[in-house]
Amino acid sequence: GCSQGCALLVEEEKEEVDPTKVKVTVFFGTQTGTAEGFAKALSEEIKARYEKAVFKVFDLDDYAADDDQYEEKLKKETLAFFMLATYGDGEPTDNAARFYKWFTEGKEREPWLQQLTYGVFGLGNRQYEHFNKIGNVIHEQLSEQGAKRIVPVGLGDDDQCIEDDFAAWREQLWPELDQILRDEDDATSAATPYTAAILEYRVVIHNSEAASYEDKQFSMANGNSSYDIHHPCIVNVAVQRELHKPESDRSCIHLEFDISGTGINYETGDHVGVYAENCDGTVEQAAKVLGQPLDLVFSIHADKEDGTSLGGSLPPPFPGPCSLRTALARYADLLNYPRKAALVALAAHASEPSEAERLKFLSSPQGKDEYAQGIVGNQKSLLEVMAEFPSAKPPLGVFFAAMAPRLPPRYYSISSSPRFAPNRVHVTCALVYGPTPTGRIHKGICSTWMKNAVPSERSHECSKAPIFIRSSNFKLPADPSTPIIMVGPGTGLAPFRGFLQERLALKELGAQLGPALLFFGCRNRRMDFIYEDELSGFVNQGVISELIVAFSREGPQKEYVQHKMTEKAAQFWSLISQVGYLYVCGDAKGMARDVHRTLHTIVQEQENVDSSKAEAIVKKLQTDGRYLRDVW
Ligand code: 2AM
Repeated sequence: GCSQGCALLVEEEKEEVDPTKVKVTVFFGTQTGTAEGFAKALSEEIKARYEKAVFKVFDLDDYAADDDQYEEKLKKETLAFFMLATYGDGEPTDNAARFYKWFTEGKEREPWLQQLTYGVFGLGNRQYEHFNKIGNVIHEQLSEQGAKRIVPVGLGDDDQCIEDDFAAWREQLWPELDQILRDEDDATSAATPYTAAILEYRVVIHNSEAASYEDKQFSMANGNSSYDIHHPCIVNVAVQRELHKPESDRSCIHLEFDISGTGINYETGDHVGVYAENCDGTVEQAAKVLGQPLDLVFSIHADKEDGTSLGGSLPPPFPGPCSLRTALARYADLLNYPRKAALVALAAHASEPSEAERLKFLSSPQGKDEYAQGIVGNQKSLLEVMAEFPSAKPPLGVFFAAMAPRLPPRYYSISSSPRFAPNRVHVTCALVYGPTPTGRIHKGICSTWMKNAVPSERSHECSKAPIFIRSSNFKLPADPSTPIIMVGPGTGLAPFRGFLQERLALKELGAQLGPALLFFGCRNRRMDFIYEDELSGFVNQGVISELIVAFSREGPQKEYVQHKMTEKAAQFWSLISQVGYLYVCGDAKGMARDVHRTLHTIVQEQENVDSSKAEAIVKKLQTDGRYLRDVW
């Protein structure tokens, strides 16, 4: 029916009614929820400071249904803030991708956003090459298109303390906002220092029969015609096996999701997003520190008693009613370190004054170093910290609003090709498992779930997970006779296994395959040479023309893929320089960075040019789409 359209109309009318108010819009582009949390916090603070402000918070995807609507709606904004995360290889988050593409691509036009004043806060990590690219680019575009910047772009650095960066950026903002949003006769907001309100959902406790939602959700989720991050498809695990050999003390899992009959489509090189669950031990520990029974059935609600809604128009992060066990398993990020806002919330609910003091200190500017060292540096989890303050028992509404971020999906490069495995999505996942500085054994949530997953080939009671496909640009050349070089140590091999399956299928259809070099790296042939038999099969079938493996822990010296590239520099460059494609997949901070440097050196030597010319050549390869990276 028209219910949604009508509701929107009514709201728009409402906005235009009161000319004494100023509309403030806060947008976020979030992957793990941090930018979303910042957007909510910013809007709450603006609301508390300025009576004049009416604010709205928007997921960038939900703001407009199509490009024209973006244009139409943005034209009507006068004051807007953008909280924008950058991830991976300088990419926007999924929910910002459509807006980013539309806003930054093409379109020569007159400045059309002169009515708009804006602020941008970027979320990034300085360890990565394209630090805060998205925030910076959106700022440049806004300003080019005529909008007026209110404060410099905030460059949040998750490698340090991003909450401090956000706090510092907000401090710059208030004097500017005072000029726009403060009434002449309103002296209060300048005088009283603002203490951030602790976010809290309204909680309703239900009787235990109401938990039927959990099952309903399973059936509802699969009723969609297409699947995405908000509408995942619940699928069975069909196959699960260990890829490391018995001598290895680590683990790497091969997993296959059964997508037959779901309508899910994917292409070779795409990613799969997986919603995993916390393991039972983690969930039980969480219930203990919360002091609540796991079979408690409850729901959370964003609307407040006063008629307003937490975080503007956003729905609560999970559907209810459901049991506490389900909420903790599926929706709460319990093993990351607690944000400062979480410590503030915990302090407010500590009955022991010394614990409250200590928590307040850790979240205060004076406690900055201890927080950075003792909590972030020590990789203390939210649960670990809560256990250290046993008198602090936050209510569930506070816990889910202010303390435990929503558990985000984890992305994996799909390690199959639909030409080879049309009913399956394969994943190759290294188990994250090891002691933290304080001796806690950290178990990666999704990899642990995969390690424990029970496949349908072993049991009728098999594991299931909500998944969805994210498309990527990491694609084979259109012409299979084009030479390719693949560099993928460790689980960086994953998408190349898909590439090779695809090439095999094409070959069987009669295609002429061009040369393909695969550089793989692992520690030791007897431990972690994953898919060894398959890879030699691909060599025998002529799908790989040369398999080059670097073993880092066999000889006295570390051998890495980039050393092998250097050894083969002439052949390497002769394949790439004219028409070939270069693909790199794996760890971004170490391997991909080093491989990039090696490529630069190879170009410099093979082309006999200086460093800046070599850089231009590499850049050109990238802009031509012939040097592609899938890195994390
Ligand atoms: P290492 O663990 O012995 O250091 C897959 O993880 C392989 O990538 C391992 O052999 C690992 O070696 C190697 N590796 C680690 N850091 C790397 C880097 N900076 N460049 C290339 N390979 C690296």
